[in-house]
Amino acid sequence: MTGAAGFIGYHVAQRLLAQGHSVVGLDNLNSYYDPRLKQARLARLAPHPGFRFVEMNIGDRPSMEALFEREKFSTMIHLAAQAGVRYSVENPYACAEANLMGFVSVLEGARRNGVDHLIYASSSSVYGGNLKVPFAVADRVDSPVSLYAATKRANELMAHSYSSLFGMATTGLRFFTVYGPWGRPDMAPMRFAAAILRGESIDVYNYGNMQRDFTYVDDIAEGVVRIAARGRQPQPYRLFNVGNSSPVPLLSFITTLEKALGRPAIKRYLPMQPGDVPVTHADVEDFWLATDFRPATTLETGIEDFAHWYRDFYGPENGRLEENGDQHGDQHGDQQGLAHELRQEARQREGQADGEWNDADYGYARA
Ligand SMILES: NC(=O)c1ccc[n+]([C@@H]2O[C@H](COP(=O)([O-])OP(=O)(O)OC[C@H]3O[C@@H](n4cnc5c(N)ncnc54)[C@H](O)[C@@H]3O)[C@@H](O)[C@H]2O)c1
Repeated sequence: MTGAAGFIGYHVAQRLLAQGHSVVGLDNLNSYYDPRLKQARLARLAPHPGFRFVEMNIGDRPSMEALFEREKFSTMIHLAAQAGVRYSVENPYACAEANLMGFVSVLEGARRNGVDHLIYASSSSVYGGNLKVPFAVADRVDSPVSLYAATKRANELMAHSYSSLFGMATTGLRFFTVYGPWGRPDMAPMRFAAAILRGESIDVYNYGNMQRDFTYVDDIAEGVVRIAARGRQPQPYRLFNVGNSSPVPLLSFITTLEKALGRPAIKRYLPMQPGDVPVTHADVEDFWLATDFRPATTLETGIEDFAHWYRDFYGPENGRLEENGDQHGDQHGDQQGLAHELRQEARQREGQADGEWNDADYGYARA
């Protein structure tokens, strides 16, 4: 699995390990966001006897070739990518290197070393400015509105060429805004939570008239694991939406988070941002037929779990850690210094942030 120290990778790895699988987790621990959060996730995977970590850049061709040759993986789950819509606008080469050249090295490694099934992360951002909802895999997706979205669509096309040329089994999963514990600090739930706990304002675009299909990370992990368990299918090239299929109004999302954190948000209402879309909504019928599963965790449950983790990890005031009583156990104690440093960094990041709602892996970033 690539991207094993990342948000989704961490949860998928936990689930695979709990089922008794062996996982080789690869990540380059880059500093797009604080690598100590990635290290903290890895620290929780490391004790599993079935887990091995490889620190490697997927763009490092010789090392990737040697790794594939040595390990002869049966299944490959490729989650490493340069995520972040806004980041791709300002750092196009970083995005292209990880998401395009990195993807070629994964495809090549897989086809030359007999990988049975390559599963890779695509994104709902491929739907770009599409107006028809729910978004279905059969819809046209040739109008991306960010380079990030374009690279994700390119991955789908590259996978198609390998399935077609070499009969390689590939499954692309278009994830819809993922949230939950151990989340990404650049995404709306983490940024909103940080601002709410510090008593700072959050930006509410289009005066709150937006809906997003938030998907709880455990549902995403379950979906990935089910696709992996299906193994090779007669049709080598597959694409699925993986989303909750129940869009939530932005203001309901904020209210739910306020309740879970026990604090009101200070809202700054702003007009629609260029590139934003009013609604995202996943059609998951195909995914359900293929896996007998559809993401269904309610926002209330998911946000409750997220808020619990957030306060535990960063402290209840997002700046002051509660006494580390026995109830937290040693692992939490180990993270206190880390949590403090992460908070400092989160504050700096907040200063650099260009919006609260715009970087949730969709094509609606401010251009
Ligand atoms: N989180 C979402 O809402 C969402 C939505 C749609 C798609 N996705 C996709 O799902 C995947 C996982 O996303 P995530 O939210 O866990 O992001 P993440 O940034 O937390 O995880 C990605 C991991 O990949 C690693 N990585 C990046 N470039 C690498 C490289 N060149 N070599 C090796 N490792 C590298 C990073 O260090 C990171 O740990 C990504 O492909 C992302 O584009 C995420």
